[in-house]
Amino acid sequence: MKKIFIAFLSFTATLGVHAQNKEIVLETKNSALVYVVKDNQKVYQAYLGQKLNQSSDYAKVGGPQKEAYIGAGMEDFFEPAIRVVHADGNPSLDLRVSDQRINKEGNITTASITLKDPKYPTQVVLHFQSFFNEDVIKTWTEIRNGEKGTITLYNYASSMLHFSAPSYWLSQFDGDYMTEMRMKESKLTTGIKTMDSKLGSRAHMYRTPVFYLSLGNLSTEKTGELIAGTLGWSGNFQSSFEIDQANNLRVINGINPYASDYKLAAGQTFVTPEFIFTHTLNGKGQATRNLHDWARNYGVLDGTKPRMTLLNNWEATHMDFNQDILVELFDGAKKLGVDLFLLDDGWFGNKYPRDADKTALGDWQTDKKKLPSGIGYLVKQAETKGLKFGIWLEPEMISPKSELYEKHPDWILKLPNREESLSRHQLVLDLVNPKVQDFVFKVVDDLMKENPNIAFIKWDCNRPMTNTYSPYLKTNQSNTYVDYTKSLYKVLERLRTKYPHLPVMLCAGGGGRTDYGALKYFTEFWPSDNTDGFERIFIQWGYLNFFPALTVSSHITSMGKQPIKFRTDVAMMGKMGYDIRVNKMTAEEIEFSNQAVETYKKLSDVIWFGDLYRLISPYEEPRAVLMYADKNKDKAVVFNYILNYRRKEYLSKVKLDGLDANKKYKIEEVNLMRGTKSALAENGKVYSGDFLMKVGLNLAPGKVQAVSSSIIELTAQ
Ligand code: DGJ
Repeated sequence: MKKIFIAFLSFTATLGVHAQNKEIVLETKNSALVYVVKDNQKVYQAYLGQKLNQSSDYAKVGGPQKEAYIGAGMEDFFEPAIRVVHADGNPSLDLRVSDQRINKEGNITTASITLKDPKYPTQVVLHFQSFFNEDVIKTWTEIRNGEKGTITLYNYASSMLHFSAPSYWLSQFDGDYMTEMRMKESKLTTGIKTMDSKLGSRAHMYRTPVFYLSLGNLSTEKTGELIAGTLGWSGNFQSSFEIDQANNLRVINGINPYASDYKLAAGQTFVTPEFIFTHTLNGKGQATRNLHDWARNYGVLDGTKPRMTLLNNWEATHMDFNQDILVELFDGAKKLGVDLFLLDDGWFGNKYPRDADKTALGDWQTDKKKLPSGIGYLVKQAETKGLKFGIWLEPEMISPKSELYEKHPDWILKLPNREESLSRHQLVLDLVNPKVQDFVFKVVDDLMKENPNIAFIKWDCNRPMTNTYSPYLKTNQSNTYVDYTKSLYKVLERLRTKYPHLPVMLCAGGGGRTDYGALKYFTEFWPSDNTDGFERIFIQWGYLNFFPALTVSSHITSMGKQPIKFRTDVAMMGKMGYDIRVNKMTAEEIEFSNQAVETYKKLSDVIWFGDLYRLISPYEEPRAVLMYADKNKDKAVVFNYILNYRRKEYLSKVKLDGLDANKKYKIEEVNLMRGTKSALAENGKVYSGDFLMKVGLNLAPGKVQAVSSSIIELTAQ
């Protein structure tokens, strides 16, 4: 690929990357983000919107143009992107452009704008990366302390974006343990709306760093101008939306500055996390598809590779198991036909065995009573049954009842002169301490060295931080939250250098850690401990707005009283797996499930790598319908869930989407229980894409039942 590298004030446009008339133009297939450097050498956001046909037109857009990255202490009256107090106590930052670069390589354009304070050697570099085909832009910031003393960063945003629209609507996604990702939508009014987290480790338990921002009117699935944004940061985050007196909106995303006045020593550079966003005129559905494409291609570890189906033992046994029980469970996995058995919590600890959640975190040695032949034996036994083997870890945590605690009481985040603050009877390790980082690395490394055939890890994190204090950082406590997350990434980086493709599921007591900062290192995440089929529709629906199906672990369990068919159909919309007592299932349920795994394997390419279309939202009707269509529009799969149903309630036909109007598709209901027939009138017939998208299918045929579901496969003829 030809590489173009330009310091570009004099650059004339080619290849959709332009820098002329002091403009910095980042174009994607449909959108553009444009900055302009004015005579005062300040940089302004000139445009963010639909791409213009003539790049020379960006210069004509006109005001209101706002400074791209506003420093506190100068002329601005609103929330700053950055607030710095210099070594001499001066609390202001004046940012003037000293350099710009732009570099286009294939699909990706990388640009940077270097800003300097004329009076202080503080330097801020605004970084941008645009992904042409995906219509996605990623931005982050570097702050360099060129002074002789330490400076303090009070605010240090990843991104500041400005909008000027008649009105603004925010769609946010939050909840709690077991109720993750509930969508709430509201019109923004003058003042600041903040969405944030102060939870530190299990940082997204109440709120995920994702949002839709609709410009003008509230977007629908297919219509409306909006941006979908997400911060790649697994710690405290903050998104703020501020409307000023003239109805301009500024959107700031980054690390939450709460209790985090960051001390940046002389010569050091602070790199913010990445803010990722897509802009579209075509509604939330398009925004989702853009983000999914970007995520698979660039955002998620091995995002274009297949995943394994698995049986986890957590719901089946909790910590109450032994070697023989596990080996028996392997037979269950075999009966289901999944690829892998995942051993969850409870396999470790000797002095303080992990029989309940009060002990042993930190003592990552196999419990000799429960598992006398060790993990190696389990791996082998699984393999003789044709299964791969995976294992659970929670390496950032420590139980007060553990040998690790006895040996290293100074390795724990806890306040001096205060009682220990336990959550799930455990504490968080002081990962900022390099010795703790080595320890955590070694936990995984030793396990893998001893058992190189371990094929999967589930990395859990069951508590947020409270009483946060790093003994290692001593007097520099306000760096703790930030340095914790940076240290976590350091460890993950080391592990990924050594084990680049080992599949690892990210879990934090459910979906307490779900962001693209982590997903660089993880292949999937656990969305919620709530696996009730009914509830899961909403939770998975929520996550699927921002994360592709192959990352959303969706397991069939016994929680919820819905029929196995319903629970299975729900799991199949994401990355399917099981967490169930197979020996408690009926022969009919096992047979159905085994067939379901086969069906899933046939459909999984479309689900994992296809385009998602949300057709009927469970927020709008007592049902949910979504579909995936592959990129060639040859195959598609529709998931249809009836939630509540009242007598004679009208459920209209559902118009499909994402098909080729000129192709003909065979309609086939799949994943039926043995002995049941499809009630779908269109089953077995062939229809054109045009018909299916304009007229649709009756997905509530015959006698409609609450809590029922169907999966329909479409194959181009
Ligand atoms: C919380 C997770 O969400 C569960 O799936 C399970 O792994 C437990 N932790 C184990 O302690």
